[in-house]
Amino acid sequence: MERLVVEGGRPLRGSVRVNGAKNSALKLMAAALLADGESVLENTPRILDCLTMTEVLQHLGADVSWDGSTVSVDTRGVTATETPYELVRKMRASIVVLGPLIARFGRARVAMPGGCNIGSRQIDLHLKGFERMGAEFTYEHGYLEAKAPSLTGASITLDFPSVGATENILMAAVAATGTTVIDNAAREPEIQDLAEMLVEMGAHIEGAGTTAIEIQGTDSFRPVRHRVVSDRVEAGTFAIAACATGGEVFLEGASASHLDLVLAKLSDAGGEVAAYDDGVRVGMEERPRAVDFVTLPYPGFPTDLQPQMMALLSIASGTSIATENVFESRFMFVDELNRMGADIRTEGHHAVIRGVERLSAAPVRALDIRAGAAMIIAALAADGRTEIADVHFVDRGYEDLEARLTGLGAEVHREPARWPALA
Ligand code: EPZ
Repeated sequence: MERLVVEGGRPLRGSVRVNGAKNSALKLMAAALLADGESVLENTPRILDCLTMTEVLQHLGADVSWDGSTVSVDTRGVTATETPYELVRKMRASIVVLGPLIARFGRARVAMPGGCNIGSRQIDLHLKGFERMGAEFTYEHGYLEAKAPSLTGASITLDFPSVGATENILMAAVAATGTTVIDNAAREPEIQDLAEMLVEMGAHIEGAGTTAIEIQGTDSFRPVRHRVVSDRVEAGTFAIAACATGGEVFLEGASASHLDLVLAKLSDAGGEVAAYDDGVRVGMEERPRAVDFVTLPYPGFPTDLQPQMMALLSIASGTSIATENVFESRFMFVDELNRMGADIRTEGHHAVIRGVERLSAAPVRALDIRAGAAMIIAALAADGRTEIADVHFVDRGYEDLEARLTGLGAEVHREPARWPALA
């Protein structure tokens, strides 16, 4: 596994184009299964997770081709309705093919997803929603067999505003007979992006982006061309990196309205934020001030920017308190930050971050996509040369990160793993 080598202590300055959102593109690729024909997605990030979703769709029989950041998904050859374990294990989000498959074929066989480094990642809310619409599930040998000869509109209230459950249920409800209401629905911008594509395909959806989504089922969908919404998590990652290095970066294509709380917290920490039609400028001259933050479903502070914010606050003047409400174990990376001289104590869902003057370079590891991004931010702010192992995790969610950081003045390059993976 490769590692990233970062010479820290240099401010990030300049402009960077923000890519399409990973957490939208994966679902839009799955939604293409609803229509018999070729859908085209523009502004799709060339990241490992989208390549894995490409493999999932190809395994189902679709013809998927890439041209730069434009992906064509031709579903005319789709017959299989099985998603194999090795793909679901690689990427939990593969489970979102379940909704479109039962909507179009009335059945599906999907490997049960495992947990990952940030929690157990259940799919009970997904399944409860499908069962409310008439689907039946059996489990055997780690696979979920879904049978849904006909889907009927239902009233579904989610115990928790789960992003994946809202999206999976939405992609089945659009083909159910009658009306479905999803209450306590997730409100993320990626949900709105998915709903926009589904409506372009012929679906009837009201209320996407609010806590109550109403869907009138229909029985035919046309393939479409759709542009993936800008990635607010990638934009937030670069914004926090700019602040952590005492620099200033223009985030081309970022939507300030998708980053309200993040930008507010960066301002509270002493950052300068300016929103424009074509992007957002974020910078910080002084050492960050301590701020408290709490992660919550959108529009709350996004859990996907919690590790990055912790990295920034680890060098703040003062003590900050971070509370992680979305995942039960998303502080695993704190030990890696503390190896670099951070002073963070975690207790359940809370972390107390006592700011230190400087972090010091040390060999560390990326534990997941966003924890890896946090280690890169810490390394950019630290003095000296930091080596970050297992950087393939970062490649799952960020395209060409070292080239784009280099373009902003960072000194970062990729090297083969120091110790080849033990057999
Ligand atoms: C999506 O995951 C994102 N992934 C995650 O981003 C993001 O952190 C998360 O939403 C929250 O915003 C993609 O979109 C591919 P959830 P998802 O269902 O859909 C529990 C990244 O780094 N839950 O909203 O899996 C679950 O265990 C990734 O880009 C159930 O209990 O998130 C978790 O504690 C990480 N039962 C909480 O809800 C269910 O059926 C939030 O999960 C579903 C979820």
